[in-house]
Amino acid sequence: QGRIYRAGVFGHRPVVPVEPAALEAAARRVMGKEAWAYVAGGAGQHRTVAANVDAFARHRIVPRMLVDVASRSLETTLLGRTLPAPLLLAPIGVLEMAHAEAEYAVARAARSLGIPMVISTQGSVPMEETARTLGDSPRLFQLYWSSDEAVVRSFVERAEAIGSDAIVVTLDTHMLGWRTQDLDLGYLPFARGEGIAQYLSDPTFRALAAARPASTEPTPRPTVAAVRSLLSMVRHHARWGGSASFRESLRSPLPRASVETFLEVFSRSDLTWADLARLRTMTSLPILVKGVQHPADARLALEHGVDGLVVSNHGGRQVDNAIASLDALPAVVEEIDGRVPVLFDSGVRSGADVAVALALGADAVLLGRPWVYGLALAGEAGVRAVLEHLLAELDLTMGLAGVSSIEAIGRDLLDS
Ligand code: FNR
Repeated sequence: QGRIYRAGVFGHRPVVPVEPAALEAAARRVMGKEAWAYVAGGAGQHRTVAANVDAFARHRIVPRMLVDVASRSLETTLLGRTLPAPLLLAPIGVLEMAHAEAEYAVARAARSLGIPMVISTQGSVPMEETARTLGDSPRLFQLYWSSDEAVVRSFVERAEAIGSDAIVVTLDTHMLGWRTQDLDLGYLPFARGEGIAQYLSDPTFRALAAARPASTEPTPRPTVAAVRSLLSMVRHHARWGGSASFRESLRSPLPRASVETFLEVFSRSDLTWADLARLRTMTSLPILVKGVQHPADARLALEHGVDGLVVSNHGGRQVDNAIASLDALPAVVEEIDGRVPVLFDSGVRSGADVAVALALGADAVLLGRPWVYGLALAGEAGVRAVLEHLLAELDLTMGLAGVSSIEAIGRDLLDS
């Protein structure tokens, strides 16, 4: 924090804007129309997207004075691991839309700060490559529960093999939400083969795609954009360390069969709480569920033996007119009552926001869109700058409010 302030005072401009709205505006200027709509956009009229952010303005920190805060620490423990801060990188798919280096850049930034990365099922880079880039830095794997159980099993085995600390099952996206801007642009990244690297690099999935009967429909000519996207994927994997076997997987089976197979097996909507028991038989890793908003679901999650949960509404991308994720947090925290960790995301834009979420009972926070904006603007350095700015503000907010440790942040930090 001191370093960032000193640099500012001596006239050095930051790598990416510090002010959250300026960061977003700068990213918008460099991102293509489709990428911007996909990343910044949400469901319906974007009411949930807005509500997530606005909810933070309704909670006010009441600073305390003359407390010795000369020595402060952001350290915390989560799932038995000591972390430098109560912060993780939220799983975000299709990163090649923001920057060609995608997960390679993000993993290097995460590693440089020791911030855990939650690797997305819809990644642009096979999880093994991301893990290799992460080195010893912590990682979790986010799972979309495929309608093909063999693919689920294979993903879980791969997540174990790359040293994941946990499996984070996302519950809120068994169907894609009503993404109005993407619909108006006629745009679905996966249909172009973007964000399906975990599948293309999966032997079980590849066998499925290869066995797929030839389509009876006439093959549509690939769009210029689709060809360009595939070529750029091949190129950046070659340049930033992608293995030869992954480049090979882009060729075989045919990308079209892979895309069609993916669209069929992406997820299933008939899952119920009882199915979690099956996931439990597949792995001994901790299982976290992401997307909980209702306290009754928090209770069900506990009853079904989860090791933690993420209060999240997917950044307002799924249900419009939904409760702001921050407004859902206190009741879930009360229901869980400290028995398993409660993580939080959707709407966090600043260090002060992190302090508020922690004060309302979150054990840690996942950062989403802001680091994607940093990625779009400046690759690895941009992601790192966004994380550093947020941590510096959290540290400063704590110090100025009279708390010197994460455990000391509680409801009494707020006026209600
Ligand atoms: C996401 N999110 C997401 N979540 C998940 O479990 N798997 C995924 O692949 C993705 N992909 C994804 C792509 C993009 C472009 C966005 C913006 C979000 C949701 C993400 O993990 C997180 O819940 C939200 O980003 C939190 O909202 P904010 O804070 O970013 O607004």
